[in-house]
Amino acid sequence: MSQAVREAESQFIVQTYKRTPILWERGHGVWLVDSEGQEYLDMAAGIAVNSLGYEHPAIQEVLAKPGLIHTSNLYYTAPQVELARLLCENSFASKVFFCNSGTEANEGALKFARKWGKERREVVAFSDSFHGRTMGALACTANPRYRQPFEPLIGGVRFATYNDLDSVNLDGGVAAVIVEPIQGEGGVRSADADFLQGLRRMCDARDVLLIFDEVQCGLGRAGKLWAYQNYGVEPDLMTLAKPLGGGLPIGAILINDKVHNALEAGDHGSTFGGGPLVTRVARSVFETVNQPEFLAQVEQVGEQLGQVLQRMVEKFDYVREARGRGLMWGLALDEKVPVADLVAAALRQKMIVLSSGGNTLRLLPPLVLKSKHVEIFETRLEAALQEVALALA
Ligand SMILES: Cc1ncc(COP(=O)(O)O)c(C=O)c1O
Repeated sequence: MSQAVREAESQFIVQTYKRTPILWERGHGVWLVDSEGQEYLDMAAGIAVNSLGYEHPAIQEVLAKPGLIHTSNLYYTAPQVELARLLCENSFASKVFFCNSGTEANEGALKFARKWGKERREVVAFSDSFHGRTMGALACTANPRYRQPFEPLIGGVRFATYNDLDSVNLDGGVAAVIVEPIQGEGGVRSADADFLQGLRRMCDARDVLLIFDEVQCGLGRAGKLWAYQNYGVEPDLMTLAKPLGGGLPIGAILINDKVHNALEAGDHGSTFGGGPLVTRVARSVFETVNQPEFLAQVEQVGEQLGQVLQRMVEKFDYVREARGRGLMWGLALDEKVPVADLVAAALRQKMIVLSSGGNTLRLLPPLVLKSKHVEIFETRLEAALQEVALALA
């Protein structure tokens, strides 16, 4: 890649990211093209963001039309209201608050829960969770490496063990429980149905709010519109972000009436939240994803992807487990083989993949991935795994 861009990045950009030396120039479908014209199969989608891949007509069409970009939330704009209506009519929720990212959505959800809880201020979060990097969301994020340098975070957050109901204690001033139905950063781990259903029962029994963070696993990623629909459990609040804007920044907090009744004007706000351009694009993304044929294809291609991964578990000793659903999959490696080695080998095979906690390869491809792409993926993944195996030998 261009040395000049690399040098300017290190001179002018805050050095909080470890970047791979590739300079992206364009994309089409599920393919990304670098500055040297090399095409990569994108199995990461900008970390679960580019839900419709690149240059999707549904997004291009909206962007090509003239329209307002921003006016502020001091006035009304129709696209914001229309997107909110769609989200409510297709979920448990009755109201939506728009913001600009996943961490902001969680931050807002925590505020809403505390407002509702009155004197009850505590929140229960889980091991291996990831909810974002601002002070409230970070306080609910388990990884000490992300937390410790910034403590003290907001108080009142206690951790229980994911998928272990016995570890959950709702005594003494708990307002809400926050949980990812499928943990992403934590290693692509799905909640057990018993666990989420049990949490719902416990929250109901103690009049505690249940928050689902579907920032990564929501909006078609898990094969249904919402991941929670795989479990037959509804939350009181749900946070969304990544895929909703098809690449533009947007976050959303979906809430039921019980929560909304505790809120009043002035409790929360966002300058940019739910602007007319981003909500027009998000509406188009939502309408594209929320089609039975689209979601059926995510499930079907996802199953095919799961079978490919399972074959790799059988072929390679150091590949321990394939887990996931829809188009959210993890491939856990033996702890002696750093997942970073596999990510690098995949790159040499012209494929973008992600790592996650638990030494797990993470796949979050655009939701428009087709069967033919999975075939290409299988060939390239096997070659990458082989390369890592040879290096071990
Ligand atoms: C489950 C979950 N919640 C929240 C976030 C934070 O989202 P953002 O990076 O948009 O702030 C992430 C990001 O990876 C996430 O995976």
